[in-house]
Amino acid sequence: MAKTRTRYLCSDCGAESASWLGRCPACGEYGTMKELNRVLGRKASSSLDGVQRSGEGVRALSEISRNESERRSSGISELDRILGGGFVPGSVILVGGDPGIGKSTLLMQTAQAMAEEWDQPVLYVSGEESPGQVRIRAERLQALHGKLLFLASTDLAEASQAAREHKPSLMIMDSVQTLTDPDHEGVSGAASQLRQVTSKLSALAKEEGFPLVLIGHVTKDGQIAGPRVLEHMVDAVLYFEGETRGTGRILRTVKNRFGASHEVALFEMRNNGLEAILDPSSLLGGSREGAVGSAVAVTWTGSRPLAVEIQALVSATRYGTPARVVQGLDSRRVSLLVAVLEKCSGMQLGGSDIFVSVAGGLKLDDPALDAALIAALASSFTSRSLPSSAVFLGETGLRGDLRPVSQVNERCREAERLGFSSVFAASAGQDLPAGVQGLSDVPALLRAAGVLQEDAAGR
Ligand code: TYD
Ligand code: MG
Repeated sequence: MAKTRTRYLCSDCGAESASWLGRCPACGEYGTMKELNRVLGRKASSSLDGVQRSGEGVRALSEISRNESERRSSGISELDRILGGGFVPGSVILVGGDPGIGKSTLLMQTAQAMAEEWDQPVLYVSGEESPGQVRIRAERLQALHGKLLFLASTDLAEASQAAREHKPSLMIMDSVQTLTDPDHEGVSGAASQLRQVTSKLSALAKEEGFPLVLIGHVTKDGQIAGPRVLEHMVDAVLYFEGETRGTGRILRTVKNRFGASHEVALFEMRNNGLEAILDPSSLLGGSREGAVGSAVAVTWTGSRPLAVEIQALVSATRYGTPARVVQGLDSRRVSLLVAVLEKCSGMQLGGSDIFVSVAGGLKLDDPALDAALIAALASSFTSRSLPSSAVFLGETGLRGDLRPVSQVNERCREAERLGFSSVFAASAGQDLPAGVQGLSDVPALLRAAGVLQEDAAGR
């Protein structure tokens, strides 16, 4: 007979362990490790993802229809695009973001657009704001469609009842942390409550076939508050980001069961709501005379290229340990590239303060940006400007070799479309599009960029 082993799961972050521990090794919380069955509840496998018994039994995968035609446009084209072509009925989407970034605004606009598009009820439930407050926002956004229904509630039963009664084509819960199931222990927002309400509401969305959007708060370190298990329980996770002081906003997919992840849509916050920026690359475009410490790259976001500007400032450290401030990129990657640059060029950056950022507040995780970052760092260090109208594409290896990037044709085409006259790309022997200058390693990159210090690399 198979032996059943007890496993333990952290109720906060979802980390697993074979033995009970007083402190979760992953998130460091005390007293959160619980027996797996207790954490997930008895009917764990059926309730966790809201997947119920279909009663249809086993079939060949090829005979199962895709139900693609069932996707429903949200009425906001950029949102549809990053979702992979609109809402999938019964799917659950978690939208996270800092307070005040515009989550309620985005979803109120979506609710209005969806009601307009389909002329069917859309249910917006708020546990955060009073009806009066929401009405003021809705007026500002001109979101007063007759089929846009509103409920102020923090009670799961009341919200579920409203959804059953009105059969919305979309339901929005603002925010999931405010919702409570009185039949379940724990205060609202606590890990177990969050899991409970998410699982019950998801099951309802699947049963009734409406897409459900859960708005979630993020904590100081930028994660959706509550258990990370929440992210596993939903079909898609979107983050809404940007500088609250500025007007640019970025909507990003970090998970999507029904489309590409890493998709990015850009918006601008105006007086009357969010406006999508349909061609964000074009904001960069064209010639950039005499830019020191700034290089352009083309990143890949899910299904399309996006031109981005990487900025670097290298300056002498006045006192103490050199500062390293990185925004929008992985700081370990930046440290690594600083070391590679030192080794390959002889430039002594180690004792300097280094500041790196991605213009516009984007957060990127794309190795193809290495070349642009190295060029920007070297340019700032030498105070020499990079060639105007240039784009850099390449991943750097530890030896200072440059490796080809994915989707190189699409990226180069985007650079050309935007009017950049020279494209420098890692080649390593493969064919590059016509007019693109191939680079093999970091010294070649620095020479092409006109920022290599004479004699420094011993050439
Ligand atoms: P909100 O959607 O309430 O943010 P969240 O739900 O993420 O906490 O948006 C808050 C900010 O957006 C607020 O500071 C005002 C600003 N705003 C605009 O600039 N224009 C608008 O049309 C609206 C509705 C809000
Ligand atoms: Mg809000």
